[in-house]
Amino acid sequence: MNLARRPRRLRATPQIRALVREVSLSADDFVLPLFVSEKVSGRKPVASMPGVFQLDEDSLVADARNAHEAGLRAVLIFGIPAVRDETATQAYADDGVVQRAVRRLKRELPDLVVMTDVCLCEYMSHGHCGITDFHGANREVAHVHNDASVELLVKTALSHAGAGADVVAPSDMMDGRIGAIRAGLDAAGFENTIIMSYAAKFASAFYGPFRDAAESAPKSGDRRAYQMDAANAREALREVDFDIAEGADIVMVKPGLPYLDIVSRIKERFGMPTAVYSVSGEYAMLKAAAANGWLDEKACVLEQMTAFKRAGADIIITYWARECATWIR
Ligand code: PBG
Repeated sequence: MNLARRPRRLRATPQIRALVREVSLSADDFVLPLFVSEKVSGRKPVASMPGVFQLDEDSLVADARNAHEAGLRAVLIFGIPAVRDETATQAYADDGVVQRAVRRLKRELPDLVVMTDVCLCEYMSHGHCGITDFHGANREVAHVHNDASVELLVKTALSHAGAGADVVAPSDMMDGRIGAIRAGLDAAGFENTIIMSYAAKFASAFYGPFRDAAESAPKSGDRRAYQMDAANAREALREVDFDIAEGADIVMVKPGLPYLDIVSRIKERFGMPTAVYSVSGEYAMLKAAAANGWLDEKACVLEQMTAFKRAGADIIITYWARECATWIR
């Protein structure tokens, strides 16, 4: 045989492989989601997400410090309030669970980038991401109002920025919320607060375990009237286009693994800082397989993180963020 093409030459040794590797992982890439709850003291395990906890404020600060010391740059904060109602009052309360937590994090860990999830579902008694109409004796949710919901999202984002959040991350998928939040932030003097938009967020069954962690499952119905249909890639490009035009600084795709084509197309088309959210269901399924001895957790995690980078992600939001930072050191 006299082959002109021998790609295996470049795979011969770890040194050669490292030389020609196209992407690599860095602790700079990862963001750790953390859940702060007004209803727990200490830490309460999330059953479907081994290694993930609902945290009280002290534990939140401890875990954030720990993540920072492991080399992470950023955390993403979700809040679980003690009281929920039909206008999500605690989402934009000055002394709300996220607002207090953010003030403390920025005081104690000023160099840690603090991102906040901006949504209403954890704060609404019905668990939907906006202001709703009801029907029937059981008050099932009939419709989620767009513009009235956006008003509350603006208030929420402003209160997070006021508490010191570096990045606000709207995850609700209402139309026009990025533009409204940008205008609200600018008018209030927060022109340097960054918006990371959950721009292409799909209505996904992979969010199941998160809804245990954040206690945010809708009591009736589903989120298909506001989150995107899994079949739609061109629509994802339009959503991202709108969000960039409205002022998004970072655009996100969510979930991660089943949507790598979306990550890739968005990065190629827009070239914006692009984030991917490796969601709770992705975490739960690999954790379960690893617990059974069916898959090698560390190897599978690092492989899929590399796949996110290869697809074009600049930022990876993952419950494995701290482990990744440690593993790749
Ligand atoms: C809030 C929100 C959700 C997630 C992030 N922000 C849940 C949802 O839309 O139902 C999912 C995160 C995950 O599954 O890890 N709207």
